[in-house]
Formats: sequence, structure tokens, C-alpha cells
Amino acid sequence: MSINYADRIPNNVGLSDNRRLQRALESWQPNYMKWWGEMGPDGSSDFDVYLRTAVSVESDGWANFGFVKMPEYRWGIFLTKPEAERVIPFGDHRGEPVWQEVPGEYRAPLRRLIVTQGDTEPASVEQQRRLGLTCPSLYDLRNLFQINVEEGRHLWAMVYLLHAYFGRDGREEAEAMLERHSGDADRPRILGAFNEPTPNWLSYLMFTYFTDRDGKYQLAALAESGFDPLARTCRFMLTEEAHHMFVGETGVMRVVQRTAEVMRELGTDDPERLRAAGVIDLPTIQKYVNFHYSVSVDLFGQEISTNAANYFTAGLKGRYLESRLDGDHRLTADLWPVHTVREGRIAVEQLSALGAVNERLRDDYIKDCQRGLERWNRALETAGADFRLELPHRFFNRRIGNAANLRISPDGRLIAEAEWQSNASQWLPTPEDMAYVDSLMRRVTAPGKIANWIAPPTRGIDGKPWDFEYVRFNAGN
Ligand SMILES: [Fe+2]
Ligand SMILES: [Fe+2]
Repeated sequence: MSINYADRIPNNVGLSDNRRLQRALESWQPNYMKWWGEMGPDGSSDFDVYLRTAVSVESDGWANFGFVKMPEYRWGIFLTKPEAERVIPFGDHRGEPVWQEVPGEYRAPLRRLIVTQGDTEPASVEQQRRLGLTCPSLYDLRNLFQINVEEGRHLWAMVYLLHAYFGRDGREEAEAMLERHSGDADRPRILGAFNEPTPNWLSYLMFTYFTDRDGKYQLAALAESGFDPLARTCRFMLTEEAHHMFVGETGVMRVVQRTAEVMRELGTDDPERLRAAGVIDLPTIQKYVNFHYSVSVDLFGQEISTNAANYFTAGLKGRYLESRLDGDHRLTADLWPVHTVREGRIAVEQLSALGAVNERLRDDYIKDCQRGLERWNRALETAGADFRLELPHRFFNRRIGNAANLRISPDGRLIAEAEWQSNASQWLPTPEDMAYVDSLMRRVTAPGKIANWIAPPTRGIDGKPWDFEYVRFNAGN
């Protein structure tokens, strides 16, 4: 299972034994590099960045640190080790050996699942491509680039599956991954949240906390798949994804801490005075939470979904930690509480658990999101601030599902259009809020220096101090 770095495409899937596949991926590689050059991090190609690269999928080998120029990053194909005698953990095929090839009857839905997941990976790189120009510190710049190269690798992971298992359609889908672009009017990315701009570092930290966390739950559900190459691919992706959410959680924490610090210094919670002091007032942070949480909650899809039920029954996509759950893993008789809107009121109804697997995954996600808010709130409490951040109701600001395009307040009331209109500027970032946050975004790249609106991290990366020179700029930059 060691990774072969002698090949042009590093891999632990024996690529050199499959010349046809190797050639196909080698012909996709230049298109990927062209995409990275055009749509990847802006103006970064001559930087030496202290990045981690996997050298094996063992616990001691997947995080190997060193200075790398990003276009020379060794993007590759890494799967976790096969589990001996693994059986399909759920659905109609429960207990049967996992599939090493795509079952003919599930070819279309599996391809769709892989394409939908794969499309999000380059989308986030596109969304974040200009952030390096306004980084608050070298530490933050390095973490941004780490996430970018890993999202690029996650695209490689999905493209490998498409090329290896889906023949000509797979190759066409792999090309299309580089042709759709985030926010493109003609060829947008597949999912809504991945077409939203990530215009500043507060958006980015919220994105890595809330939207990368959706990725964690989707990957975890696919990591249970009866299609074993997909399960093993997603398991390895999850090890990398943890860092992305760490960046979000600690990043928002540092923004909150810095604001609380200035609140204490000035003895005020007046947003105007805090803005004059160059930090982001807590009500504005709350609005960014509301926005990024609501677009991420949408990513879980319809509460009751025939597609999701079919994926489950077929053994393609499970529940979070499926293999560790009790029950018959078929869900034919089980119920699950589902939020609905009936006769002008939000209600919770017991509905078929099989139809509600999306909603169940969303429930797991919401619980996980809540943990970060509790940590941020403890920091506020410690700093003596009265303000507490909250997750809005799951139906707030939704575009998909039972509450799509209904007017629902953050505290979970179905409200009239007039009430929405008079409060929306308190609930979601306004153009003025965004302009203010944008105005704080100035590039800080001296080691040990950091922008005024965010606190330094408590630790650096890989045991280095936080003020280590994580990115070295070279002539011409
Ligand atoms: Fe990813
Ligand atoms: Fe990610």
C-alpha cells in the first residue's frame, strides 16, 4: 500500500500495472494543470509553501511536511487499505461482499454521486482563488494553500474513480469537472453553496467551518458505500478534510477572540466603535454564521428524497457511521422525525426513515456544527462579553426542501414578507457589512505579524511556532 512517487501520478493503486488507465489519467493531467494555473490560487506559482503531502496512507505517513511550490505539488491517487472480507453494511445487499466493480444496475446513480461530490472539490478552489492576496498572516496563507491543494487532490480522487470504473462516460465527466466553474452563468457548479462567492477571509473561515463540514458528512456517508473503491477513497479524503474544518473552527474562534479583546479594551459593544477600531462586531459575525450555515444546510437536499432512499436501499450511500449503528440497516419499518411546514406552522412529523436519510445526515451535521458555537461562546464568556452566537433555525433562509423560499425567522417562526423585509438586514450580511469586512482585508506577510481583525493562533503547524515563515516568496512576487 505504499505510495509510488516514481510514477508521474503518485498513487497506491498500482497504476503502472494498468497502462490504459495510466495513459487516460496522464492525458487528463495537463488539463488539470491548466485549470490550476487559470482557476487556482492567484499569483502563487513561485511561492515555496510549507505543505503536507501524503507519502503513505498509514497513520505515520499521510502528513509529511516540507516546502513545495504549488504547481509542483504531487497530486495523486490514494485509497485506504482494503478491509479484509468487508461486506455491504446496509440496504438490500446487506451482508453480501462489497463490490470491486460497478454493478451494472447501479452505474448511473453511482456516477451521479461521484460527479456531485467531485464537482465540489475544484469549486471551492475557484471560490477561494483570490484570498491569498489579502491573507491576514503567513500562517493563514499556508493553511489556505494547504486546503487548496487538498481540494485539488480530492478532485483527483473522484476523477480516478470515473476513469477507472466508468469508461467513456467517466472520461467525459472528468473533462466536465474542469469546464464547469463556480458562479459561471453558463456552466455553474452543480450545488448552490459552491456557486456563492467567498469574497473575504471571514466568508472563507465560515465556509471551511460550515461547508467543508457538509463535505465531511457526505464523505462519511459515501465511506460506507458497498462500492469499495469509493468507500476507500472517501476514507482517505476524510483524514485530510479534518484540517479544513480545524481551519474554520479555530479561525472563527480567533476572530471572535480578537473582537472580544477590543470590546474589553474599549469597554463597549457598540458596533460603530468596534468598526472604528478595525474589528468585526459580533452581530456581523452572527450574520455570517446565519448565511453560511443556511446555504450549507441546503446541501443535504430534500428532507424526504426518493433518490436518497434508492441510494440507501442499493447500498451506495449510507448514514453517518452506518457500520456502528444498531438496527436492521434496511430502514423499511423505521421512522425519523422530519421538520415540515403544515397549515402555516413548522411541525415535526414521524416519517419513513428510509425516505428521510438526507434529513438524518443533516441532523448529525447540525449537532456537530453546534459544538463549535459552544466553544466560541465559551471564549466570549471567558472574555466577559454578554453576546452569544447561535445557529439559526434549520429552516432559515432555505432554497431547498420543505422550507424552500418560505420566510422563516432565525428563531424558527413562519413570518410574513413584511416582517422579513424589515428584519433581513439584522439577519443576513448587508452590502454595507460586506463592504466593511472587505475593507479590513489587507495582505500581511511579514513573519510574526497579523492583521488587526484576527487573533494569532495558539499553535503553529507541524510543531513550528505560529510566526514561522510558512510561505517564502521568490523573485518576481
Ligand atoms: Fe474536499
Ligand atoms: Fe475540504
